[in-house]
Amino acid sequence: MTTVSIIKADVGGFPGHSTVHPKLKEKAGEMLKDAKSKGIITDFFVGWCGDDLDLILSHNKGTDSSDIHGLAWDVFKQCTEIAKELKLYGAGQDLLSDAFSGNVKGMGPGVAEMEFEERKSEPIIAFLMDKTDPGAFNLPVYRMFGDPFSTAGLVIDPALHSGFKFEVFDVYKGRKVVMKCPEEMYDLLAIIGGRSKYIIKTVFPSAENGKIPEKEPVAVVSTDKLSLIAGEYVGKDDPVALVRAQSGLPALGEVLEPFAFPHLVAGWMRGSHCGPMMPVSLEDASPTRFDGPPRVVALGFQLANGKLVGPVDLFKDKAFDLTRQKSLEIADYMRRHGPFEPHRLPQDDMEYTTLPKVLKKLEPRFEKI
Ligand code: F6R
Ligand code: MG
Ligand code: MG
Repeated sequence: MTTVSIIKADVGGFPGHSTVHPKLKEKAGEMLKDAKSKGIITDFFVGWCGDDLDLILSHNKGTDSSDIHGLAWDVFKQCTEIAKELKLYGAGQDLLSDAFSGNVKGMGPGVAEMEFEERKSEPIIAFLMDKTDPGAFNLPVYRMFGDPFSTAGLVIDPALHSGFKFEVFDVYKGRKVVMKCPEEMYDLLAIIGGRSKYIIKTVFPSAENGKIPEKEPVAVVSTDKLSLIAGEYVGKDDPVALVRAQSGLPALGEVLEPFAFPHLVAGWMRGSHCGPMMPVSLEDASPTRFDGPPRVVALGFQLANGKLVGPVDLFKDKAFDLTRQKSLEIADYMRRHGPFEPHRLPQDDMEYTTLPKVLKKLEPRFEKI
């Protein structure tokens, strides 16, 4: 069995919350190279999106491995030291605790990982987002595995025709539910449309898929919401996801197709605004306009006995130029609302920002009508 893990954190921005300093990437690369030479991991790639450092790791230690999480924690700790020396912005902000207890879950960093039997050929895509929250993956992941208008294979390919199962987390109540498409499509959409509360965590094939075992995950999203862990706003969640493709699964192009639509997501400026999700190359993954707009990078790999062959910077494709153009138009349109909804998040979601501190001050001024 092979495990692919993305473990990510913002341990300091340069400047402000815009990018990752090259020295942090360099340090992460050195440490992971060392871990590879010691056989702790099989392979790695140091990715980034905006101010987030995304460690993409392959290994055979399974999910929730304390070796792997411990390694990532050490990398983030060491990078934090460099961030402190350079006085980078928000140095160590996503490491919410000083003591590592075997698993990074609930400690600040985000995790998306899955264990599976590597197929004869195993294309895998790592999606890295910045300036948004995990709910930003609901629409594209649903469309990849549930929407026949986006994924042609759901209609045409007998393996996909039997559908997929979606495991959805209710992140406020700490509970989950599994729903199968196409049978329960309307029920699924009823909940995942509420993307601040319900988040698609994992996708599994149906029992009738015939190509991929029913118990093997085919897509996984990091669902960690920093605001829920810390109780108040401590930066954003900036989620990541892993998706397997081809041969009984959506084709590479079907996995990418949902991102041709720049859907509106939460998390722009101060984690408090809605804006369009813009697909970009690594080179363009530096959000600066109004600290955004939100963006996503897609890195494609072929797994070869655990080795990560790649990546190919998939959104570099000119075919996404029109989407980018559209994103910029939408960004302009949304910006003109200034502090008004729906550019600013709905009042309930503002709970986890710094706005309540302002509102508290106004409280004594209100009189009964
Ligand atoms: C953080 C982010 C930024 C900050 C904003 C204010 O990931 O996206 O928009 O929320 O720059 O940051 P502070 O309060 O640290 O000055
Ligand atoms: Mg930041
Ligand atoms: Mg970020």
